[in-house]
Amino acid sequence: MSGPVPALGEATRAAAARLLRRCDELAAVSASPAGVERVHLSPEHARVNAVAAGWLAEAGLTTWQDAAGNQWGRLEGAEPGLPALVLGSHLDTVPDAGRYDGILGVVTAVEVAARLAPHRAALPFALEVVAFGDEEGTRFGTALLGSRAVAGTWLDAWWDAQDAAGTTLRQAALDFGLDPARIGEAARRPEELVGYLELHIEQGPQLEAADRALGVVTSIAGARRFAGRVVGEARHAGGTPYAKRRDALVGASQVVLAVERLAVETGGIATVGRLQAHPGGVNVVPGLVEFSLDVRAEHDATRDDLLARIEEHARASCAARGLAVELHETHSAPGVACDADLSASVVAGIAATGDEDPLRIWSRAGHDAMAVAAVTPVAMVFVRCADGISHHPAESVTLDDVGRGLDALEAAVRDLARRRSAEV
Ligand code: HGY
Ligand code: MN
Ligand code: MN
Repeated sequence: MSGPVPALGEATRAAAARLLRRCDELAAVSASPAGVERVHLSPEHARVNAVAAGWLAEAGLTTWQDAAGNQWGRLEGAEPGLPALVLGSHLDTVPDAGRYDGILGVVTAVEVAARLAPHRAALPFALEVVAFGDEEGTRFGTALLGSRAVAGTWLDAWWDAQDAAGTTLRQAALDFGLDPARIGEAARRPEELVGYLELHIEQGPQLEAADRALGVVTSIAGARRFAGRVVGEARHAGGTPYAKRRDALVGASQVVLAVERLAVETGGIATVGRLQAHPGGVNVVPGLVEFSLDVRAEHDATRDDLLARIEEHARASCAARGLAVELHETHSAPGVACDADLSASVVAGIAATGDEDPLRIWSRAGHDAMAVAAVTPVAMVFVRCADGISHHPAESVTLDDVGRGLDALEAAVRDLARRRSAEV
């Protein structure tokens, strides 16, 4: 950094305090009394959309919920009907979530729109805010459903995806009051859009290690996810000699260890986040294990190479124990580069907060921006989170960093507006 970072103004501190209160308010809308859990097309999803719509209306935006269940607001620019710069993130969560992943980006986008509303006549684009309804894929296993509908990359096969209770996505959409036949109406056309800017907590420790509040994202890693099964044979835990055992859990355990080792060796990232042994009796050799696999890397080629090694190892190590292993792909997203021109505005926005040479980070986490990139250029601001912890109730940000993120996002929009106005 070029020098000491200036202190935040009083107005920004007050706004940051409001943003933190709003994150707390949304965290209280949860399916679980013990923590935060808000999944796609749930009653909690409907409730937070209504809360966000209220904030958007209060900020002077016109509001609507789209055909995929995403909540929107729009502020016209210098004249009605201009293409829109979209600011946003998601309001759904993982199980036992923190209160800032996605949420902070939405509440900050609302506040930036509120700040710019009095200056709309100077905007060479409309400003829209979006709160996506499914980024995490917690309920149906398929992630980015909200942003993929908006990008026009929806696949009808997703309608048959089921949640843990066996409810299909189609039925859940109907129950939510949406018409699956109209999903195409959520898609935006490239000519309607200027770009998409997303503020998000980093979900990693790099900003903290570098003593920076904010960073600019260079690219977003694309994940591939699988539902895996190791198939052996359930038998009596006492009577079955080891030579006769085909223990699916021992086989799956070898796979889990290889997943970590191979990821470290290749420079990729791979995780088994879910593992269930069947039939699950204390005195039964496990005959079947179901597990999840998430694989990602900075570059898709590295990710796919890691995946090929995992598959090869899993087949060989399971075969040696008389086990079969199956991997069924449930999600695949290509890695996405952030747009250089929009990112220049993000850098200018962060510079306006006092950090003139912001840290550049490739995002290990997936974001709605990667889906939106199919329809319009995208860029992202990262905000430091304590110890890099996320997807955990201990997720935490400081008021100061939230204020800097707010100022930076507003300054990025103003920078883009200035540059686009100069072009016309
Ligand atoms: O899993 C991810 O990377 C994102 O947080 N949904
Ligand atoms: Mn997340
Ligand atoms: Mn997120």
